[in-house]
Amino acid sequence: MEPVGDRQSALVTHVVGARPNFPKVAPVVRNLPRCGIRQKLVHTGQHYDDALSESFFRDLDLPRPDVNLGVGSGTHAQQTAALLTAIEAEVRSTRPALLVVYGDINSTLAAALVASKLGIPLAHVEAGLRSFDRSMPEEINRVVTDRLSDLLFTTSPEAAENLSREGITEGKVHFVGNPMIDTLLKHRDMFDPQSALKKFGVEGEYAVATLHRPANVDDPESAAGLVTALQKASDLIPVVLPLHPRGRASLSAQGLTELGNVTVIDPLGYIDFLSMVSGARAVITDSGGVQEETTMLGIPCLTMRTNTERPVTITTGTNRLVAPSNLAEVLNGVISGQFESPSQQPPLWDGNAGERISAVISDWIQRP
Ligand code: UD1
Ligand code: UDP
Repeated sequence: MEPVGDRQSALVTHVVGARPNFPKVAPVVRNLPRCGIRQKLVHTGQHYDDALSESFFRDLDLPRPDVNLGVGSGTHAQQTAALLTAIEAEVRSTRPALLVVYGDINSTLAAALVASKLGIPLAHVEAGLRSFDRSMPEEINRVVTDRLSDLLFTTSPEAAENLSREGITEGKVHFVGNPMIDTLLKHRDMFDPQSALKKFGVEGEYAVATLHRPANVDDPESAAGLVTALQKASDLIPVVLPLHPRGRASLSAQGLTELGNVTVIDPLGYIDFLSMVSGARAVITDSGGVQEETTMLGIPCLTMRTNTERPVTITTGTNRLVAPSNLAEVLNGVISGQFESPSQQPPLWDGNAGERISAVISDWIQRP
């Protein structure tokens, strides 16, 4: 698809909607105006609680969204349908030269579909990640979004291989590094484990946990298995768990909130969360982004999943896939020092991804 409009008049619209999008969009929004490009930030409203949305705009010093579509929650079909309708109305009236989407959430998929149907060029930041597990809603979102994209920005070398296997040509693919890591490096000096710990009354060594993947928390049996695993883990070390709203009801029903050595708190803002993580002995998680952040911070990450779309965090990082049945054993190993920090970081995780993405967009917009 050919770019439309000249550089001066070109409008680039970013579509974001949920917690993991915000640290990814921040460095692009910061760098793009330096290339003389007009931009618009559209928030779909997929996430709407202060802790999952507004607090990131404050912590990351992100400009307020130009528009919030207020789409909210629902089943996949309900939410995607509402996203399609709202994004189409927004984009039809402004006709951006390029729509930029982030990650793998339903807002990403819906924006990609709308752009394609309206003939608006599409860029995908964090393209090419694959868990090869289509039972994950995010995997479907990734595959479809990449298929429809004109510019694909990748965060790690294996992403280009995944895309090439799917017939997505190299000319569209740009290995730019990881914008989420740009955000982490930019704010690293603000991470303060001691003050975060004081806020939540935790003393001494601790582990941080986050859980929200549907495969883990939606099914009562899986949720029960996780609660048992956390109970055993917390016999070894106190666990602080900022709990995503998705898991709250099901994990609580299995007794999570009654575990003596697990402190369940509300989701944290970005700076508080990364402060907690940077002082932790280990992190237990099923998050995508947290696997990357712990790799960068050198904190052992025990990922409660059978796969990861981010294998570079295992090969060149601190990540390890763990089952509920062996969480305590692996954690015990980590606590007793059986953990080797990798000697190098994943390539191009250097804080300059936003700049590279902006440069590619700028060149692309100027192409005759
Ligand atoms: C979404 C993304 C997931 C991402 C996660 C990050 C999809 C398919 N999933 O999952 O990839 O890892 O965000 O956090 O897009 N809720 C609230 N307050 C809110 C938002 C949601 O209470 O501000 C509750 C609602 O009950 C809602 C549920 O959380 O039904 C799930 O929200 P939803 O956005 O559909 O998916 P997430 O599980 O958050
Ligand atoms: N995060 C946060 N507070 C929390 C949990 C997570 O600020 O309580 C941040 C963290 O930086 C993480 C990002 O939100 O990388 C995305 O989180 P999430 O796990 O929700 O999404 P995923 O990466 O799994 O899609």
